[in-house]
Amino acid sequence: MRDRGLFITFEGADGCGKTTQINLLKDYLEKEGYDVILTREPGAKGLGEKVREILLNYDGVVSDRCESFLFLADRAQNIDIIVNPAVAAGKIVLCDRHIDSTVAYQGYGRGLDIDRIKMLNSLATNFKKPDLTIVFDIDVETSMQRVGKDKDRMESAGVDFHNRVRDGYLKIAKEEPERIKVINSVQPIEKVFEELLEIVKKYL
Ligand code: TYD
Repeated sequence: MRDRGLFITFEGADGCGKTTQINLLKDYLEKEGYDVILTREPGAKGLGEKVREILLNYDGVVSDRCESFLFLADRAQNIDIIVNPAVAAGKIVLCDRHIDSTVAYQGYGRGLDIDRIKMLNSLATNFKKPDLTIVFDIDVETSMQRVGKDKDRMESAGVDFHNRVRDGYLKIAKEEPERIKVINSVQPIEKVFEELLEIVKKYL
């Protein structure tokens, strides 16, 4: 058991393979004896699942600002109810998407003001950032092929939108190189995992 927990977030375009990598990492860490908690945004266990349902499946009009606030509400709940208590108890928390998704998707993708989104993120997280963030980088064509025909509301937002999201992620990573590491995810799963482990081991 660690005396201080660790909060690691995973980011990237839809279909970048991060969920597979998170599960591989969870198995690895548990075998090494660490206490690991998995969570995700949107859709942390409990209330978050209901917010996720609206965000991904609501078929009426959703304003860009409303969409942002729903993601942020889900984030506040995830941080308060799941992430912070687990980190305080010395656990390793692996979170599928977090603050950088809102900057990339609602900021760069939808075109909302980046500084305002960052400010709202700070309010939702109580000014705490992850210890480490991994961005799984993938070109839009490959990511759309991986997602296939059965797209949710966000995945249906179009190629230009997804190009802006990808460029946004790369820009955010350049701004915070200490926290954010980029891995090329157009590689075999084992190779991506190898690179992921090399980074994560430095934080254990
Ligand atoms: P999800 O099915 O979890 O996608 P993935 O498996 O690719 O992570 O759906 C989450 C969707 O919500 C995804 O398209 C990204 C989007 N999203 C935002 O637009 N803003 C946010 O702040 C978050 C957390 C997610």
